[in-house]
Amino acid sequence: MDKRPSIIGRMFDRIAPTYDLLNTILSLSLDRAWRRAATNLLEIRTGDTVLDVATGTGDLALPAAIGGANVIGIDLSRQMLLRALGKAREQGLRTRYSVVQGDALSMPFRDETFNSAMVAFGIRNMNNLEVFLAEIHRVLSSSGRFSILEFSLPESSLFRWIYGVYLTYAVPIIGGLISGDYDTYRYLRDSVTGFPVPKALEDMMKRQGFRVVRSRSVFGGISHLYLIEKEG
Ligand SMILES: C[S@@+](CC[C@H](N)C(=O)[O-])C[C@H]1O[C@@H](n2cnc3c(N)ncnc32)[C@H](O)[C@@H]1O
Repeated sequence: MDKRPSIIGRMFDRIAPTYDLLNTILSLSLDRAWRRAATNLLEIRTGDTVLDVATGTGDLALPAAIGGANVIGIDLSRQMLLRALGKAREQGLRTRYSVVQGDALSMPFRDETFNSAMVAFGIRNMNNLEVFLAEIHRVLSSSGRFSILEFSLPESSLFRWIYGVYLTYAVPIIGGLISGDYDTYRYLRDSVTGFPVPKALEDMMKRQGFRVVRSRSVFGGISHLYLIEKEG
């Protein structure tokens, strides 16, 4: 699967106009509660500086900004970022949310800039997970926490089979019809099924200098939520 930044950035540019609508339809609006759980885990305090990696259209970042954090979002896709900024403006949050167009594997931030970091449905797209985790480790302050929400596969074999059918047939058809881009919604299935299982990802996190504070499956394993803390 080609995860070069130029390819991924262009892919999200293409689907940006219908991204929010399709999220709501394909997740039956459950994605909002899952994102809320991911930000709550960080216990963000007013005035904290928080990094939202792969910020997309801002649905993880904006609630954190409402809660009083100064959020910086980074993303490859200009079209996704323009939508995020539009929402921030509508919600009067432009002073607490700023964005940078760039690659999360090589971020233009100084060491130890952020109190905490978060990512929702973005880590799956990273070209090199070890490099990505090392980069988050670098920009987090001492004992800084990172919450990660990502799709996963159900533990129960029956549910996994049903979910596999949904990912293989329903998602590309619904996603393709609404966005006009069938390939991207086929990529969604491949990127979910090809992503490391939680145990493998946790091992990687530990190798990159993080302590796993929490790791739990969400909705029978369709998603997984991690909270990790920078050691050293
Ligand atoms: C599925 S969207 C998630 C957006 C948002 N976090 C959310 O919860 O809706 C994935 C986003 O990750 C961005 N992305 C993928 N790889 C990236 C990378 N290497 N660096 C920065 N952003 C990346 C894409 O451009 C896209 O906007």
